Amino acid sequence: MADQPPADVTRPESSGSAPTPPVEKPQPVAVQITSTPLPRKAKQDRAPEEDPGIWRMNRRNLLAVTGWLGFLTFIVASTIGALRFMFPRVLFEPPTKFKAGFPQDYVVGEVSDKYKDEHRVWIVRDNIGFYSLIAICTHLGCTPRWLPTDNKFKCPCHGSGYYKSGVNFEGPAPRPLERAFIGLTDEGEIQVDTSITFRYELGQWGKPGSFLSYAG
Ligand code: FES
Repeated sequence: MADQPPADVTRPESSGSAPTPPVEKPQPVAVQITSTPLPRKAKQDRAPEEDPGIWRMNRRNLLAVTGWLGFLTFIVASTIGALRFMFPRVLFEPPTKFKAGFPQDYVVGEVSDKYKDEHRVWIVRDNIGFYSLIAICTHLGCTPRWLPTDNKFKCPCHGSGYYKSGVNFEGPAPRPLERAFIGLTDEGEIQVDTSITFRYELGQWGKPGSFLSYAG
């Protein structure tokens, strides 16, 4: 005999008047969802740049490189310092004492600019001799100019004026120009020394060396 399909309990009986049993409602089945933890990444699967060991190495390398750079900087600075010590900076200035030619090279009444640029002095020849004026304004140190047509020295900075003798007469200059030592060498040449100066207001223009008598 062939297998009969099970009777459908939900289908009412087709025959008879027997009471229909209550249909059983299916009960909801509680489903428990559990989360399964994902497998951790194996250490060896990490990218090299994520590996803290490599970071530790890089930091170590960086510290080493920084140390070497500091050491090299120290060596270079020490070498430069030693070289500068061996070759000190020298300021080359013209000598304060120089020869200024022979007296007969000058014309009476002349104010010579010949040594002004290099030695910052004028050499003045009058009818009894020579004197040398230092070309530094006594106001604030500018270099005055000799104006032959006005027969005076004039400072371009604030307008001080000086006679040919060097005495101030206009502007803010507080005192006359200074004179430098002037004399003759054994060979009869004029010699000037700007390291020895004479000040009018101190009564020094009568001292030997402030004026060179020359009758030639
Ligand atoms: Fe010569 Fe002032 S510096 S007048």
